[in-house]
Amino acid sequence: MLTVSRRRLLAASFGPLLPNLLRSAPAIADDMMFPENFVWGASTSSYQIEGAVDLDGRGKSIWDVFSHSPGRVKGGDTGDVACDHYHRWPEDIELLARCGFTDYRFSTAWPRILPNGAGVVEPRGLDFYDRLVDGLAARAITPWLCLYHWDLPQALEDQGGWRNRDTAQKFADYAGTVAKRLGDRVKHWITFNEPNIHALFGYGTGENAPGVKGLPSMLAAMHNQNLAHGRAVQALRAERTDFRLGTVVSLQRARPTSGRDEDRRATERFEAMWNGACLDPQMLGRYAAPVADDFAPLIMDGDLATIHQRLDFIGMNDYAPMYVRSAPDSLFGAWFGELPPGTPVTAMGWPVDPGSLTEELIRVSARYNKPEIYITENGACYEDIVAGDGTVHDAERTAYIHDHLAAAQRAIAAGVNLRGYFVWSLLDNFEWAQGYSRRFGIVRVDFASLTRKPKASYQWLTEFIAQQKRR
Ligand code: FCB
Repeated sequence: MLTVSRRRLLAASFGPLLPNLLRSAPAIADDMMFPENFVWGASTSSYQIEGAVDLDGRGKSIWDVFSHSPGRVKGGDTGDVACDHYHRWPEDIELLARCGFTDYRFSTAWPRILPNGAGVVEPRGLDFYDRLVDGLAARAITPWLCLYHWDLPQALEDQGGWRNRDTAQKFADYAGTVAKRLGDRVKHWITFNEPNIHALFGYGTGENAPGVKGLPSMLAAMHNQNLAHGRAVQALRAERTDFRLGTVVSLQRARPTSGRDEDRRATERFEAMWNGACLDPQMLGRYAAPVADDFAPLIMDGDLATIHQRLDFIGMNDYAPMYVRSAPDSLFGAWFGELPPGTPVTAMGWPVDPGSLTEELIRVSARYNKPEIYITENGACYEDIVAGDGTVHDAERTAYIHDHLAAAQRAIAAGVNLRGYFVWSLLDNFEWAQGYSRRFGIVRVDFASLTRKPKASYQWLTEFIAQQKRR
């Protein structure tokens, strides 16, 4: 058995030979065997991969407008072409199948289906996802459909976007429209991807689309997405009874940067805002004490009951722990501080600390009464180097995934009801405000030619999943 530290040593000494060594790596250790029927998936999102932004009647999304505004996205990159998944999806689902993935999480683009966000439906938009779902079925890959991964129709943003309560009902109507068309074949539905991050960076700091800044807009965006989640769950359940419904939130272990009281209190507030402001009302029907007063003015009669719907699972996107300090001048008084000296980081500058995943899984499991949990995103960005033969020997990404799987395994051993793992991401893609400068894929995409080439991490996962299935 090649342990990870051994792999790292090998990476240092053999460099380019590593993938070959990994390919012949012996059996995965027994403690890396996951429960039977564990879900092995990959995740993507519409704006990050589809391209084809002007085709088949698609309306504009906030990311089209944002990325075309000078200075917003690194290098002036846009999602106009992205991975051209809109045309190359057969190749992409072939890549999923070859890796052995049992499941695939993707998102539908609201402006492809309702170009103005509400009203007239664009059938060609629905046709695209219909073909995709049939293609997945043909390869026995289970679809997990996420209704919203940050690409709000610009027409709705023009009416206030997520600052406007009316957007919640429009989202529920959109959910019903998609369910009507695909609900006979899609059984796993996710309302939102990371509404917390969307509100924080889209409507709080303004670093992401739609680029709005300020605490009031951030809080409104958070609450109105929560409301939209509740109403969409109701709409989906009204459509069919055999759906499995969930939510996906960015959940990262929060740690104070120091033992000082103000940093500890700041961490509680940060935790309640980042990890709690969506899941607490959705799972418990309330906002937690450190942020309750912030949300109180927004809550109208019946809101919390609407938001608090029974869910079949929680999707957890987890990458790294967060080190928090008191920051009185920041958006809500608490913000990111320094990492402990010597902490290894990825090319995003995010700390690598698999133990934080175990801790966060245990925390979420305890707080929400042992829900069914899926890791719906986990993965790493590194400066991939392409070898002469076109391959990427991404030993660091492989080690990251291996170590986080081992961390997930420890959470299962501790009693967490963890049922699946989706790697982020199948493909290198448009990494939001970082454009194409940041690569998370297990498949390399050459953005000039749009060719795809599996990296060493893809080969490793192929072997790993095969071994899980051979039990
Ligand atoms: C998550 C997003 C996803 C991707 C990864 C790296 O916050 O959901 O789209 O950008 O981070």
